[in-house]
Amino acid sequence: MSTPRPVIAVLVSGGGSNLQAIIDASETGAIPGRVGVVVANKADAYGLVRARNHGIPAEFLDHRSFESREAFDARVAEILRAHGAELVCLAGFMRVVTPVFLRAFPGRVLNIHPALLPSFPGTHGPRDALRYGVRFSGCTVHFLDEGVDTGPIVAQAVVPVYEDDNEETLAARILEEEHRIYPMAIRLFLEGKLTVEGRRVFTRDVARIPEFSRRNPDA
Ligand code: GRF
Repeated sequence: MSTPRPVIAVLVSGGGSNLQAIIDASETGAIPGRVGVVVANKADAYGLVRARNHGIPAEFLDHRSFESREAFDARVAEILRAHGAELVCLAGFMRVVTPVFLRAFPGRVLNIHPALLPSFPGTHGPRDALRYGVRFSGCTVHFLDEGVDTGPIVAQAVVPVYEDDNEETLAARILEEEHRIYPMAIRLFLEGKLTVEGRRVFTRDVARIPEFSRRNPDA
């Protein structure tokens, strides 16, 4: 008998394209785990459909029907535990998570954010980057802590911001990179290659990228 693959839980609020990238990576064997449960706090989250298309249990839980954030988080944690979740991935989950949830999965919750943290935390990463006028933005996978987009950084990818970008074109360019680095970060976590020391995450056995420099614009 083959050894069971660790269970990944994914929390979504919307389209779930990151969820899809994680499911695809698990189905091709690119990550050594399987998505075992998906929870959404929006009834119409397309992520629920994506999960069910792959035979993955998917549950809608309306946060408005709970008396507190903590009560909602406790119920989500209970569901994830019942499915044996070993890693929780927030993928476009538009809710701040309370310590009740973090205590249920200490050091085992990842999030993806569409900006190069610590720049532009919050709900409008691409819009804020565009308005500020940065020449590069990107995305960040980080461990979740009690702050908003403040936890130790596992991986980042950079994209250029062009002068004719709008929020949609920039967000789409960033999203493509999200789909690359989120599965990679999950693989490193499940392979036991990540160590957190304070704010810093150290990664065992990975190649260092060659020294490089990038300019934008490239006049
Ligand atoms: C992504 O840009 C993610 O970084 C942000 O919300 C978006 C979710 O996209 N938190 P999807 O639902 O994975 O398609």
